[in-house]
Amino acid sequence: MTVTIKTPEEQNQMRIAGRLAADVLDMIGEHVVPGVTTGELDRICHEYITNVQQAIPAPLNYRGFPKSVCTSVNHVVCHGIPGEKTLKSGDAINIDVTVIKNGFHGDTSRMYFVGKPGIQAERLAAVAYEGMWLGINELGPGKYLGDVGEAIQTFVEGKHFSVVREYCGHGIGRVFHEDPQVLHYGHRGAGMELREGMTLTVEPMVNAGKRHVKLLNDGWTVVTKDHSLSAQWEHTVLITADGFEVLTLGADAREC
Ligand code: MF3
Ligand code: CO
Ligand code: CO
Repeated sequence: MTVTIKTPEEQNQMRIAGRLAADVLDMIGEHVVPGVTTGELDRICHEYITNVQQAIPAPLNYRGFPKSVCTSVNHVVCHGIPGEKTLKSGDAINIDVTVIKNGFHGDTSRMYFVGKPGIQAERLAAVAYEGMWLGINELGPGKYLGDVGEAIQTFVEGKHFSVVREYCGHGIGRVFHEDPQVLHYGHRGAGMELREGMTLTVEPMVNAGKRHVKLLNDGWTVVTKDHSLSAQWEHTVLITADGFEVLTLGADAREC
């Protein structure tokens, strides 16, 4: 395990990268409408990241991933590959954006509804969102990763949904996925103790049915085994002296 502690200067670079990633999600919202393809959403994000932000879309060519963002629709859990799929009213889509700016990564995702959301999809997204925030609110120096996992798992399972085990949050910095692994289930007091200067993601995947997942033949797309709906939200967070700072808040949630 090699966990990196970011210096104040590195923390500033992480703030910059995190803000850019959030700006992409703010930008793309109005384009998520019936009739658009996931490939078009990818292209719009790619152009914005490269031309407007002068940044790099981290997923592109990452371990062979062919596109610039991940688009995960309905029963797709994560790592959906943008392409010909046309969105229709009632679909729910997670768009996951990671940008690299000055060598530092910012990683964040949100759920969007196409047209009018289905009642179950709306409930599931709300539970995943609240679960993510309950996990984030556990963060701080002297706290344990298990505190985050237990908070999320207890809440989600209490709503009779399930937490995906095979994919997790992660340390982040100059490296996209670095130590530690941030599990979205577990036991209070277990796992690594957190320290000021760590940066990591919290990104629970929540299924309406059972927790089990299956990897498709494209080598990337992860779906629920029982084809139930899945939802995910993600923030990149800095551990501060007195708690945490969320680096990927949207403009509406920022002070400046
Ligand atoms: N952004 C994802 C995460 O939250 C990782 C995507 S890897 C990719 O960690 F290659 F699929 F893009
Ligand atoms: Co991530
Ligand atoms: Co991500």
